[in-house]
Amino acid sequence: MFTISVVSTKGGVGKTTLAANMGGLLRDIGLRVLLIDADIQPSLTRYFHLEHEAEHGLTQLIRSGVLSPDCISHCQLPPVAFEAKGVKLPQSPGGLLHLVKSDTRDGKLQDWMSGRMGLDMLMRLNMPLKHPSVTSAYDVVLIDTQGAIGHLQDAAVNAADQLLVPVSPDIVSAREFLDGTISLLDRHECAAHVGLKMPPMKAVLTRTEKTVDCKLISELIREHFIEMRGRVSMLETMVPAAVAYRKAATAQVPVHWIDPLKQSDVMHKLMWEFIPSVDGMCASNHPEFIDLNAPHDNV
Ligand SMILES: Nc1ncnc2c1ncn2[C@@H]1O[C@H](COP(=O)(O)OP(=O)(O)O)[C@@H](O)[C@H]1O
Ligand SMILES: [Mg+2]
Repeated sequence: MFTISVVSTKGGVGKTTLAANMGGLLRDIGLRVLLIDADIQPSLTRYFHLEHEAEHGLTQLIRSGVLSPDCISHCQLPPVAFEAKGVKLPQSPGGLLHLVKSDTRDGKLQDWMSGRMGLDMLMRLNMPLKHPSVTSAYDVVLIDTQGAIGHLQDAAVNAADQLLVPVSPDIVSAREFLDGTISLLDRHECAAHVGLKMPPMKAVLTRTEKTVDCKLISELIREHFIEMRGRVSMLETMVPAAVAYRKAATAQVPVHWIDPLKQSDVMHKLMWEFIPSVDGMCASNHPEFIDLNAPHDNV
């Protein structure tokens, strides 16, 4: 099982969009995917239609330290009301798309986490996800986070094998990304002596426009590679600003259903670059569908 946390210290950069679309695509290549909405604003929770909404969610997962069945909601693809006109639906049913919903708007979970000892608080997502019942049930776990430093973000960082960090292609966001990342590294390195490691971080430029000099931003981030302890790299794939992302969110489906050519290519490339073990695997509605009889182990 491979755990990915989508983090950034900024809101509106495309974290939830990436988590939902990456989750939908991984499910369509046949993998068993668990989404965790660790944002107090439940955007990922609302992205897909739920055919089964569990009674509990993030609060119970974190407080009990166990991923029990009553925390697991089931996403429905396609959603009941989906208008399939002009959309190429996948031919195979895909893997699984489950969700731990966000239920912490009132701030009680953060208050509860503030009262825990540091290490205990940091392990609150890592611990339940390492349980054999979870590692054998899912191939990929994707954690969406809020755009602010806090206990939930720390727990999500500490649970991940790899971090995906969307960055907006403007110089102010790029500088904020550098500052935010360096302070995140500083904070997490404090925990190194107790065996906690900061996972590798991969930045992706999102909502890019043709007019913006994305190369300049990428170079700025690459120049600071050493300053970021060599732990941050820049993905080659960029996610363009495209109306298909909003349309997909409205229809509650992944973007590769809405735009099975351009944005499907973008999402496939991003997935292959970010998770090399799925390189070459395609959703069954992709023009270059390769049936690899998707093995479920060792993702
Ligand atoms: N590549 C994109 N092209 C166009 N709109 C996008 C793209 N990515 C995200 N958006 C839109 O930008 C807004 C913020 O994205 P969201 O994923 O919610 O950001 P975050 O989770 O970082 O706050 C949403 O309305 C979303 O539909
Ligand atoms: Mg979000």
